[in-house]
Amino acid sequence: MLDGCGRDIRYVRISVTDLCNLGCVYCKPRPVPKLTHDDVMSVDEIIALANDFVNAGFTKIRLTGGEPLVRKGIIPIVKGVCSVTDNVGLTTNGILLSEFAEELKAAGLKGVNVSLDTLDPEAYRKITGGGKLSEVFKGIDAAKAAELKIKLNAVLQRGINFDPLPLLEYAEKTGAELRMIELMPFASTLGYVDERALNAENWLRSLGAEHILDEGKTSLYRYRGHELKVIAPLSRNFCAECDRIRVTCTGMLLPCLHGAKAYPVRDKIGSAGFADYLGSVLKLKPPAHGIGEGIYQNMDMGSIGG
Ligand code: 5AD
Repeated sequence: MLDGCGRDIRYVRISVTDLCNLGCVYCKPRPVPKLTHDDVMSVDEIIALANDFVNAGFTKIRLTGGEPLVRKGIIPIVKGVCSVTDNVGLTTNGILLSEFAEELKAAGLKGVNVSLDTLDPEAYRKITGGGKLSEVFKGIDAAKAAELKIKLNAVLQRGINFDPLPLLEYAEKTGAELRMIELMPFASTLGYVDERALNAENWLRSLGAEHILDEGKTSLYRYRGHELKVIAPLSRNFCAECDRIRVTCTGMLLPCLHGAKAYPVRDKIGSAGFADYLGSVLKLKPPAHGIGEGIYQNMDMGSIGG
């Protein structure tokens, strides 16, 4: 479906819960206002919504949170969404993955994206507000054993993963694909961003990494004999190629991760007017984020969906 800028939007990220079993410094300020059970879309609504998107021409769906694996009914959700399209992904912090990997695979999921910023347990504990890194490693092992395709997301942070070599070697050993992601500021996390953000372009230059090519949101580099994938929404803005939108767990459609405007979609689920409504909202997708101009998202990442 074309948006107002002529971009073909075919990828939706649907959040299944705002709850998370971690509290990462760059993601979710605590405490956040608590949603009630009825505020959050039901299992059936999420599946029906996925079906609406597929009927409207969308070809890719990612389930996010919060942490999707803390959502009651995540397996039926995955099963239902995988029954409407086969291009389904799920982004997880990996803490509960050892428990769910087999079931996710059996439900039809092909792969998981696991957030992993460091291989150091103490640094991990600090970033995540108490997370146990050993559980993530167990989760990744379980995902591998279940033959799920694994991508690792590492948020680039000063003093945490300036040298990506350990993560690259871990990824290679695991058969996973690592992507280093430039830390994005949100209104609630500016302090942390000030302290830890690295400009990806400058970082790559100081590493002496060799630029190979840019492909959509991903830039490919060569670093010490390894392929290094980088997603740099600030220093290599890819808004012009953006193909995605988000839906929060309460059923609000957010055309841009950093945009102020969200549009209700929950009351349109399963209705004949869904595609027309979606088309009209897509016309309002901003051409680009305004982070460079100091325009920050007031919602936090956990409430939006990662
Ligand atoms: N900047 C960049 N990436 C972030 N993520 C979460 N918060 C931020 C942020 N402020 C990443 C997580 C997760 C992915 C969906 O987004 O690592 O894997």
